[in-house]
Amino acid sequence: MMKATAMAPANIAFIKYWGKKDVKLRIPSNSSISMNLSACTTTTTVEFSDDFEKDIVSEGFDSTRIIEHINRFRKRAKTKVKVTTKNSFPTAAGIASSASGFAALTLAASAALGLKLSERKLSEIARLGSGSACRSIPDGFVKWEKESASSMYPETHWDLRDIIVIVEEKMKETLSTAGHDLVSTSPYFTKRLEALPERISRVQQGLKTRNFRLLGEAIEEDCLEMHHVMQTQNPPLFYWTKETSRVIDTVKKSGLPAYFTVDAGPNVHIICEQKTEKNIIDVLKNYQIIVNKPAKGAHLI
Ligand code: DP6
Repeated sequence: MMKATAMAPANIAFIKYWGKKDVKLRIPSNSSISMNLSACTTTTTVEFSDDFEKDIVSEGFDSTRIIEHINRFRKRAKTKVKVTTKNSFPTAAGIASSASGFAALTLAASAALGLKLSERKLSEIARLGSGSACRSIPDGFVKWEKESASSMYPETHWDLRDIIVIVEEKMKETLSTAGHDLVSTSPYFTKRLEALPERISRVQQGLKTRNFRLLGEAIEEDCLEMHHVMQTQNPPLFYWTKETSRVIDTVKKSGLPAYFTVDAGPNVHIICEQKTEKNIIDVLKNYQIIVNKPAKGAHLI
């Protein structure tokens, strides 16, 4: 039977991927570093069969982009396909689901065809679907360089939390793919690329020595810089809303040891250590939150 089910986590970037050297192949302009998220997962079943008269994809997902990805495997299976996919988090919550989605889809499709691909190869294929998806293949804390991503440390390395604060349930208006492609219109893009090697080494050192302050300060710096680049692109991209700033303010005013980061949407990710989790949850009691631990990468179920 040509059928398999895989689960993959979303990930939060500590060093962001913003800009591509090769748009079609999704080769990034810079290396990025992320942590897999335990509570934000996609579970996908891929089945190839002659019984299907046409390709079938679960309602509410981008079937064109999903089938385009399946077509990368299609030379192995001449049949139609059925893709059933489900997110553990509300799809409309504005949490990027392309990372967990394309990682799960890649592993499920390759397993359905009986292919025994290396982690590196799976990461490369996932990248073609969505860049950040290549970071959801390996376990725990992950670095993406050039064609593929690999694990720096397993999920057990450091008991960090990513507490996602849902400030808006609306889907983002400008998808990140379109935004990436205009990155060079920002006069700050090359400045960012120049600053990155030093910042990446601080994130690496912070992770290695579990130095929370060193890591956190570099995470915030990179988030602010990416949004600065986004906002100075032509046309400018504003993912940050008043509510985003309000949440960050609330956490900062609490004086608790925690750092923020924001992706291509208004939701806020509060990064803290396990010992601070309860206090942060208390500070955010008026908000809808999702508490994540570091997680394994894509796996078959
Ligand atoms: C802001 O991976 O969604 O979340 O490769 O075009 O699918 P495509 O882009 P995508 O970009 C994610 C950008 C980001 C930062 C990050 O996750 O590193």
